[in-house]
Amino acid sequence: MNKISIQLRSNKLIIIGGIYSNIEAFNKFLSIAQKPIYKNIPIINTGDIFAYFSEPNKAIDLVRKNKIISIMGNCEESIAFDAEDCGCGFKKNSACDLLTSQWFPYSKNNISIKNKQWLKQLPYQIVLNYKSKKYLVCHGSPRKINEFILPSTSKNIIQNLSINYDGVIAGHCGIPFTRYLKNSFWHNSGAIGLPPNDGTKKGWFSIIDLGNSKIEHKSFTYNHLTTFKKMMKIKLNVHYAKTLKTGYWPSTDIFKKYDLEILKKPIPSKGIIQNQIYNSIH
Ligand SMILES: [Fe+2]
Repeated sequence: MNKISIQLRSNKLIIIGGIYSNIEAFNKFLSIAQKPIYKNIPIINTGDIFAYFSEPNKAIDLVRKNKIISIMGNCEESIAFDAEDCGCGFKKNSACDLLTSQWFPYSKNNISIKNKQWLKQLPYQIVLNYKSKKYLVCHGSPRKINEFILPSTSKNIIQNLSINYDGVIAGHCGIPFTRYLKNSFWHNSGAIGLPPNDGTKKGWFSIIDLGNSKIEHKSFTYNHLTTFKKMMKIKLNVHYAKTLKTGYWPSTDIFKKYDLEILKKPIPSKGIIQNQIYNSIH
């Protein structure tokens, strides 16, 4: 597994993930990231640049053009190494598995050879060194690229996964949440291109200030109807296209009851913040 190490010069980071080929959402994020308050802050992408929506190649072009530091998600890995499916980790014949069969071949046919080569060289994980501290950037979890770590994941699992780091920054599950642990944290910025199944039409990213150990979740709206219309025009992934309008995913197979309870209401603007006390109920 290709794992690289970066020495950070900046104490601040912008974290993104789950662009999912949604160009309208990604362009809106990029316009926010260009604001003077975010100037010169490195952008780190936890993976899944493309998936459900209609412009996978353009999404990769924009990541490259904007010099966004990226790791390999399961979507990148599957296309780069010619897998037969997206490797999301969905159960065979589950609703998610069946829905994947629509967007995966589409992405495969619409990503240039040059971009496929670029995907191949992406690191699987990045260790960020800041002063004497170490933070890990990974896709699903440090042990598995497609592991779903969610708000419902137990204290013991999260604690053990982050034991070697002062913080873990992960992606894959698309839910914006931060769990504060005894000597560490687990953070997911949520997804740029897919609302977090909470009935809203929002994209999410985050700002981490390692100097002050401060994590801020941020959300934004964008012209989701344009993305929807593009999908309908080519009759791609109608179920996911509808998610842009309803704010709910076509399948909730990955969630446990606890997650679904949280997602009954729109996620608050500060994201889902959990402390370790929460874990005592599991
Ligand atoms: Fe993923």
